[in-house]
Amino acid sequence: MNPKQLAAEKAVEFIEDGMVVGLGTGSTAYWAIHKIAQRIQEGLRIRAVASSRDSEELANKLGIPMVPFSEIEVIDLTIDGADEVDPHLNLIKGGGGALVREKILASNSKRFFVIVDESKRVEHLGQFPLPVEIVPFAANFTINKLKELGCNTRIRMSNDKEYITDNGNIIVDCNFEKIVEPKELNKQINLIPGVVDNGLFTRLVSSLIIGYNDGKVMVID
Ligand code: 5RP
Repeated sequence: MNPKQLAAEKAVEFIEDGMVVGLGTGSTAYWAIHKIAQRIQEGLRIRAVASSRDSEELANKLGIPMVPFSEIEVIDLTIDGADEVDPHLNLIKGGGGALVREKILASNSKRFFVIVDESKRVEHLGQFPLPVEIVPFAANFTINKLKELGCNTRIRMSNDKEYITDNGNIIVDCNFEKIVEPKELNKQINLIPGVVDNGLFTRLVSSLIIGYNDGKVMVID
């Protein structure tokens, strides 16, 4: 089994009957969604919400019962991947472009399980360019403010066009190289008018589940 799948399947063991489950986005969350679908076929009864259109589509295709956000107060457990994880369980997320919805789910979950392979662990965040979702209006002004925080920026592209998020916005990938104070940087970025949110997730993780190439899995609470 590949390490992403190992971590994903371990996380799904924590799901219990009656839970509302948040579905993450990306190639690791993909395995979790598949395992959840398998457990449902074996009798597990849950309802789910998704952090992206892609994950919602996959869940629908696999027969996972989805519930509208208006019908729930809280999410019991969200399972999602990450692009980088530091020793304090701060994350960079958003490589798949779903950071805004992912942060909403994580912030409204009783438990937030992050599933990664060992390559995602870093001493300091920032090697992976930090995704920032901004509204397209006067994007150059917003990007200039981001640059003032000390990063190089690049507008994310897809098929020679600006990548458009599920929320109708664009993503600026900000290369800081090394992020020393993620909590502070998160605040500073989100104070810039035009920024919707950024991919720094601080103090949100309940458990980190790491899959290793040798087949081992580690759970860190
Ligand atoms: C999507 C994300 C993903 O969780 C993150 O990019 C990790 O992806 P993968 O599991 O494919 O490595 O934040 O917005």
